[in-house]
Amino acid sequence: MTKRIPIIGGNWKMNTNLESGMLLAGAIADQADTCECCEVVVYPPFLYIQAVDSVIDQTSLHLGAQNIWHEPSGAFTGEVSGAMLREVGATSVIIGHSERRHILGESAELISQKMEYSIKDGFQTVLCVGETLEEREAGKTVEVVLGQVKSGLQHVHASKMEMVVIAYEPVWAIGTGKTASPDDAQNVHKEIRECVRGLYDETIANTLRIQYGGSVKPDNAAELFACPDIDGALVGGASLSADSFNAIVTAACES
Ligand code: PGA
Repeated sequence: MTKRIPIIGGNWKMNTNLESGMLLAGAIADQADTCECCEVVVYPPFLYIQAVDSVIDQTSLHLGAQNIWHEPSGAFTGEVSGAMLREVGATSVIIGHSERRHILGESAELISQKMEYSIKDGFQTVLCVGETLEEREAGKTVEVVLGQVKSGLQHVHASKMEMVVIAYEPVWAIGTGKTASPDDAQNVHKEIRECVRGLYDETIANTLRIQYGGSVKPDNAAELFACPDIDGALVGGASLSADSFNAIVTAACES
Protein backbone atom coordinates (compact mmCIF):
# COMPACT_ATOMS: atom_id res chain seq x y z
CA MET A 1 0.00 0.00 0.00
CA THR A 2 1.21 3.51 -0.79
CA LYS A 3 2.16 5.50 2.30
CA ARG A 4 0.73 9.00 2.02
CA ILE A 5 1.97 11.77 4.30
CA PRO A 6 -1.06 13.32 6.03
CA ILE A 7 -1.64 17.00 5.36
CA ILE A 8 -3.33 19.21 7.94
CA GLY A 9 -4.44 22.65 6.80
CA GLY A 10 -5.61 25.48 9.03
CA ASN A 11 -8.06 27.64 7.08
CA TRP A 12 -8.34 30.80 9.16
CA LYS A 13 -10.99 32.29 6.85
CA MET A 14 -11.70 35.96 7.74
CA ASN A 15 -10.44 35.62 11.32
CA THR A 16 -7.55 36.75 13.55
CA ASN A 17 -5.88 40.14 13.46
CA LEU A 18 -2.27 40.93 12.66
CA GLU A 19 -0.97 40.30 16.15
CA SER A 20 -3.09 37.26 17.02
CA GLY A 21 -2.36 35.71 13.61
CA MET A 22 1.38 36.02 14.12
CA LEU A 23 1.15 34.53 17.63
CA LEU A 24 -1.04 31.67 16.40
CA ALA A 25 1.34 30.88 13.52
CA GLY A 26 4.31 30.88 15.91
CA ALA A 27 2.65 28.42 18.27
CA ILE A 28 1.64 26.13 15.39
CA ALA A 29 5.14 26.29 13.90
CA ASP A 30 6.69 25.20 17.22
CA GLN A 31 4.60 22.04 17.11
CA ALA A 32 5.05 21.46 13.34
CA ASP A 33 8.80 21.48 13.88
CA THR A 34 8.56 18.56 16.28
CA CYS A 35 6.50 16.41 13.95
CA GLU A 36 8.03 15.13 10.75
CA CYS A 37 5.31 12.63 9.97
CA CYS A 38 2.82 15.11 8.60
CA GLU A 39 2.69 18.27 6.53
CA VAL A 40 1.14 21.30 8.20
CA VAL A 41 -0.10 24.38 6.32
CA VAL A 42 -1.81 27.57 7.53
CA TYR A 43 -3.98 29.79 5.34
CA PRO A 44 -4.21 33.26 6.93
CA PRO A 45 -6.21 36.10 5.38
CA PHE A 46 -4.31 37.59 2.38
CA LEU A 47 -3.29 40.69 4.33
CA TYR A 48 -1.44 38.74 7.01
CA ILE A 49 0.42 36.25 4.81
CA GLN A 50 3.60 38.30 4.67
CA ALA A 51 3.68 38.91 8.43
CA VAL A 52 3.03 35.24 9.14
CA ASP A 53 5.81 34.33 6.74
CA SER A 54 8.24 36.42 8.77
CA VAL A 55 7.33 34.35 11.87
CA ILE A 56 7.48 30.89 10.31
CA ASP A 57 10.17 31.43 7.68
CA GLN A 58 12.79 29.15 9.27
CA THR A 59 10.29 26.48 10.38
CA SER A 60 8.69 23.48 8.70
CA LEU A 61 5.22 25.06 8.76
CA HIS A 62 3.95 25.79 5.24
CA LEU A 63 2.01 28.88 4.22
CA GLY A 64 -0.91 29.20 1.87
CA ALA A 65 -3.65 31.49 0.54
CA GLN A 66 -7.40 31.01 0.69
CA ASN A 67 -7.93 32.05 -2.92
CA ILE A 68 -6.17 33.16 -6.12
CA TRP A 69 -7.14 34.88 -9.37
CA HIS A 70 -6.53 33.12 -12.66
CA GLU A 71 -4.76 35.95 -14.50
CA PRO A 72 -1.22 37.19 -13.84
CA SER A 73 -2.14 40.90 -13.62
CA GLY A 74 -4.57 43.48 -14.93
CA ALA A 75 -7.89 45.16 -14.29
CA PHE A 76 -9.35 42.72 -11.74
CA THR A 77 -10.45 44.90 -8.84
CA GLY A 78 -10.10 43.22 -5.48
CA GLU A 79 -8.25 40.15 -6.76
CA VAL A 80 -4.79 38.74 -6.02
CA SER A 81 -2.45 36.99 -8.49
CA GLY A 82 -0.19 34.01 -8.07
CA ALA A 83 2.94 36.14 -8.43
CA MET A 84 1.75 38.39 -5.59
CA LEU A 85 1.08 35.39 -3.37
CA ARG A 86 4.45 33.83 -4.08
CA GLU A 87 6.23 37.12 -3.37
CA VAL A 88 4.85 37.16 0.19
CA GLY A 89 5.68 33.52 0.89
CA ALA A 90 2.61 31.43 -0.04
CA THR A 91 3.25 28.02 -1.59
CA SER A 92 -0.22 26.47 -1.30
CA VAL A 93 -3.65 27.68 -2.44
CA ILE A 94 -7.21 26.64 -1.58
CA ILE A 95 -9.64 26.64 -4.51
CA GLY A 96 -13.38 26.00 -4.64
CA HIS A 97 -14.08 26.26 -0.93
CA SER A 98 -17.83 25.90 -0.38
CA GLU A 99 -18.02 29.43 1.04
CA ARG A 100 -16.67 30.72 -2.27
CA ARG A 101 -18.96 28.46 -4.29
CA HIS A 102 -22.11 29.24 -2.30
CA ILE A 103 -21.65 32.69 -0.74
CA LEU A 104 -19.50 34.31 -3.44
CA GLY A 105 -21.15 32.41 -6.31
CA GLU A 106 -18.01 30.94 -7.89
CA SER A 107 -18.94 28.68 -10.81
CA ALA A 108 -17.49 25.30 -11.69
CA GLU A 109 -15.98 26.93 -14.77
CA LEU A 110 -14.19 29.62 -12.74
CA ILE A 111 -12.92 27.02 -10.28
CA SER A 112 -11.46 24.89 -13.08
CA GLN A 113 -9.74 27.98 -14.53
CA LYS A 114 -8.26 28.81 -11.14
CA MET A 115 -7.08 25.21 -10.73
CA GLU A 116 -5.30 25.36 -14.08
CA TYR A 117 -3.68 28.71 -13.31
CA SER A 118 -2.66 27.91 -9.73
CA ILE A 119 -0.94 24.70 -10.80
CA LYS A 120 0.75 26.33 -13.77
CA ASP A 121 1.99 28.94 -11.32
CA GLY A 122 3.60 26.25 -9.17
CA PHE A 123 1.32 26.16 -6.14
CA GLN A 124 0.29 23.12 -4.22
CA THR A 125 -3.42 23.40 -4.98
CA VAL A 126 -6.21 22.16 -2.72
CA LEU A 127 -9.47 21.53 -4.58
CA CYS A 128 -12.43 21.61 -2.18
CA VAL A 129 -15.53 19.59 -3.02
CA GLY A 130 -18.66 18.73 -1.07
CA GLU A 131 -22.41 18.33 -1.19
CA THR A 132 -25.09 20.48 0.48
CA LEU A 133 -27.55 18.99 2.97
CA GLU A 134 -30.28 19.08 0.32
CA GLU A 135 -28.10 17.16 -2.12
CA ARG A 136 -27.18 14.60 0.55
CA GLU A 137 -30.82 14.07 1.52
CA ALA A 138 -31.70 13.60 -2.15
CA GLY A 139 -29.10 10.78 -2.34
CA LYS A 140 -26.88 12.84 -4.67
CA THR A 141 -23.70 13.04 -2.57
CA VAL A 142 -21.46 10.94 -4.80
CA GLU A 143 -22.85 12.39 -8.05
CA VAL A 144 -22.31 15.98 -6.85
CA VAL A 145 -18.86 15.39 -5.36
CA LEU A 146 -17.51 13.46 -8.34
CA GLY A 147 -18.97 16.07 -10.68
CA GLN A 148 -16.96 18.73 -8.81
CA VAL A 149 -13.83 16.56 -8.89
CA LYS A 150 -14.08 15.97 -12.66
CA SER A 151 -14.83 19.57 -13.43
CA GLY A 152 -12.11 20.91 -11.09
CA LEU A 153 -9.48 18.62 -12.59
CA GLN A 154 -10.52 19.00 -16.22
CA HIS A 155 -7.49 21.13 -17.17
CA VAL A 156 -5.00 19.36 -14.89
CA HIS A 157 -2.52 17.17 -16.73
CA ALA A 158 -1.42 13.88 -15.16
CA SER A 159 2.13 15.19 -14.83
CA LYS A 160 0.86 17.94 -12.48
CA MET A 161 -1.33 15.82 -10.26
CA GLU A 162 1.39 15.59 -7.60
CA MET A 163 0.63 19.27 -6.90
CA VAL A 164 -3.03 18.57 -6.18
CA VAL A 165 -4.71 17.78 -2.87
CA ILE A 166 -8.46 17.23 -2.71
CA ALA A 167 -10.45 18.29 0.36
CA TYR A 168 -13.81 16.59 0.81
CA GLU A 169 -15.90 19.01 2.86
CA PRO A 170 -19.61 18.28 3.15
CA VAL A 171 -21.19 21.75 3.19
CA TRP A 172 -23.59 20.80 6.00
CA ALA A 173 -20.63 19.91 8.24
CA ILE A 174 -18.67 23.14 7.81
CA GLY A 175 -18.79 25.33 10.89
CA THR A 176 -21.91 23.55 12.18
CA GLY A 177 -20.38 21.19 14.74
CA LYS A 178 -21.78 18.27 12.70
CA THR A 179 -19.19 15.88 11.25
CA ALA A 180 -19.68 13.14 8.70
CA SER A 181 -19.33 9.78 10.41
CA PRO A 182 -15.96 8.17 9.67
CA ASP A 183 -17.76 5.52 7.57
CA ASP A 184 -19.65 8.09 5.51
CA ALA A 185 -16.52 10.19 4.99
CA GLN A 186 -14.45 7.12 4.10
CA ASN A 187 -17.03 6.05 1.50
CA VAL A 188 -16.89 9.40 -0.26
CA HIS A 189 -13.07 9.51 -0.09
CA LYS A 190 -12.93 6.06 -1.63
CA GLU A 191 -15.27 7.17 -4.43
CA ILE A 192 -13.06 10.20 -5.09
CA ARG A 193 -9.95 8.00 -5.28
CA GLU A 194 -11.72 5.59 -7.66
CA CYS A 195 -12.79 8.52 -9.81
CA VAL A 196 -9.21 9.84 -9.98
CA ARG A 197 -8.04 6.33 -10.89
CA GLY A 198 -10.43 6.41 -13.83
CA LEU A 199 -9.43 9.94 -14.87
CA TYR A 200 -5.67 9.28 -14.54
CA ASP A 201 -4.07 6.03 -13.35
CA GLU A 202 -3.42 3.75 -10.41
CA THR A 203 -0.25 5.50 -9.21
CA ILE A 204 -1.83 8.95 -9.25
CA ALA A 205 -4.90 7.66 -7.42
CA ASN A 206 -2.78 5.92 -4.78
CA THR A 207 -0.54 8.90 -4.13
CA LEU A 208 -3.26 11.61 -4.15
CA ARG A 209 -3.95 12.98 -0.69
CA ILE A 210 -7.61 13.52 0.18
CA GLN A 211 -8.30 15.63 3.27
CA TYR A 212 -11.57 15.62 5.17
CA GLY A 213 -13.02 18.95 6.29
CA GLY A 214 -16.08 19.93 8.29
CA SER A 215 -16.02 20.46 12.07
CA VAL A 216 -12.81 18.47 12.60
CA LYS A 217 -11.78 18.79 16.26
CA PRO A 218 -9.30 17.10 18.58
CA ASP A 219 -11.98 14.68 19.79
CA ASN A 220 -13.07 13.41 16.36
CA ALA A 221 -9.78 13.67 14.44
CA ALA A 222 -8.28 10.29 15.38
CA GLU A 223 -11.27 8.25 14.20
CA LEU A 224 -11.35 10.12 10.90
CA PHE A 225 -7.59 9.68 10.36
CA ALA A 226 -7.91 5.95 11.05
CA CYS A 227 -9.89 5.59 7.78
CA PRO A 228 -7.74 4.25 4.95
CA ASP A 229 -8.60 6.94 2.38
CA ILE A 230 -8.54 9.97 4.72
CA ASP A 231 -5.14 11.66 4.51
CA GLY A 232 -5.51 14.56 6.90
CA ALA A 233 -7.89 17.45 7.40
CA LEU A 234 -8.73 20.96 6.35
CA VAL A 235 -9.68 22.64 9.60
CA GLY A 236 -11.60 25.88 10.05
CA GLY A 237 -12.85 26.78 13.54
CA ALA A 238 -10.46 24.50 15.43
CA SER A 239 -7.46 25.97 13.57
CA LEU A 240 -7.93 29.29 15.39
CA SER A 241 -6.57 27.91 18.65
CA ALA A 242 -3.04 26.54 18.71
CA ASP A 243 -4.01 23.98 21.35
CA SER A 244 -6.82 22.43 19.34
CA PHE A 245 -5.05 22.65 15.98
CA ASN A 246 -1.85 21.14 17.39
CA ALA A 247 -3.89 18.33 18.96
CA ILE A 248 -5.29 17.54 15.49
CA VAL A 249 -1.75 17.53 14.06
CA THR A 250 -0.71 15.14 16.83
CA ALA A 251 -3.67 12.87 16.03
CA ALA A 252 -2.52 12.78 12.38
CA CYS A 253 1.02 11.91 13.41
CA GLU A 254 -0.23 9.07 15.55
CA SER A 255 -2.57 7.69 12.90
P1 PGA B 1 -14.79 24.04 10.06
O1 PGA B 1 -14.37 24.56 8.60
O2 PGA B 1 -13.67 23.17 10.55
O3 PGA B 1 -15.00 25.26 10.88
O4 PGA B 1 -16.05 23.25 9.88
C1 PGA B 1 -13.72 23.72 7.68
C2 PGA B 1 -13.47 24.46 6.39
O5 PGA B 1 -14.28 25.30 6.01
O6 PGA B 1 -12.43 24.24 5.73
